[in-house]
Amino acid sequence: MAKLWGGRFSKNTNELVDAFNASIDFDKRLYHEDIRGSIAHAGMLAKCGIIPAEDGEKIIAGLKDILADIEAGNFHFDVALEDIHMNVEARLTERIGSAGARLHTARSRNDQVALDMHMYMKREVAEIAELLLKFEEALLTVAKKHEKTLMPGYTHLQRAQPITFAHHMLAYFNMLQRDFRRLLGVWEGADMMPLGAGAIAGTTFPIDRFMVAEELNFGTVYPNSMDAVSDRDYIIEFLSFSSTLMMHMSRLSEEICLWSSTEFGFVELDDAFATGSSMMPQKKNPDISELVRGKTGRVYGHLMAMLTTAKGLPLTYNKDLQEDKEGFFDAIDTVKFTLAVYR
Ligand code: ARG
Repeated sequence: MAKLWGGRFSKNTNELVDAFNASIDFDKRLYHEDIRGSIAHAGMLAKCGIIPAEDGEKIIAGLKDILADIEAGNFHFDVALEDIHMNVEARLTERIGSAGARLHTARSRNDQVALDMHMYMKREVAEIAELLLKFEEALLTVAKKHEKTLMPGYTHLQRAQPITFAHHMLAYFNMLQRDFRRLLGVWEGADMMPLGAGAIAGTTFPIDRFMVAEELNFGTVYPNSMDAVSDRDYIIEFLSFSSTLMMHMSRLSEEICLWSSTEFGFVELDDAFATGSSMMPQKKNPDISELVRGKTGRVYGHLMAMLTTAKGLPLTYNKDLQEDKEGFFDAIDTVKFTLAVYR
């Protein structure tokens, strides 16, 4: 299929280059945001008289059909079309003809991908906030039940002073309250709309960024177009939040592993949340807690990878920035799974 940028090229891209360059295998996760963003952009282009109203309507109807197709599993994602943006746009033009190509007016994939990621971040942060609150509630419930349950408190992993189990659980509750506060900060960092930055320096078309921002529920727009297309701070902030949260979850996990051992014998794991051994029937293994402890390292890795990717990049967009996605998506999945199994 013809590439969006194929105009000045006389040869097809090498197959290996297509495969290496492509992000579609993972950025198809952004399809919903990509299409919603495009609908808002097309509506604005038509309203501002930059494209004919009739083309705007065709584009929006076509995008809605594509969204329905993707959701019904009837969309073929093509690696040669590199990413979600070009997959959707190529299909749109195939369907509605030349009006489809007008969608790209006053826009670049650089500000488009930034828009998608900001929108996706805000959606996921809202879901994670809910899971986090549910887990905090679970901690409160356990604490309430064990107001009078005594246990040893430790320093240096040596018995120190008697405490209650509630006291211990509420320490985790307070840690997670701080995580929640950090998560709100992540949301704020993502609540700035980058669309309109174009590839780097904006556009000479008389666009209305504020109209798009309002349509897509953004609190504000980027004041600087170069920052808009190269900023990945909001992803670093999310990964930093995730790393701290996982560190807390990992400490709790380590305690559960200790407490459920025969040596400590403080808790017995629920059968639905433990695994056994066929050869050693006396065992009940805390796999879930061990995995949370283990997955924490992976999330730290994503934070380090993103910081390292960004550190040597000249302004503005560089293809290195495509590497912002896999670690981010994996951190989201890991954090959500962890909170869900523990609540
Ligand atoms: N797939 C790209 C990414 O995720 C989209 C932006 C590509 N822009 C470009 N100028 N090649 O970063």
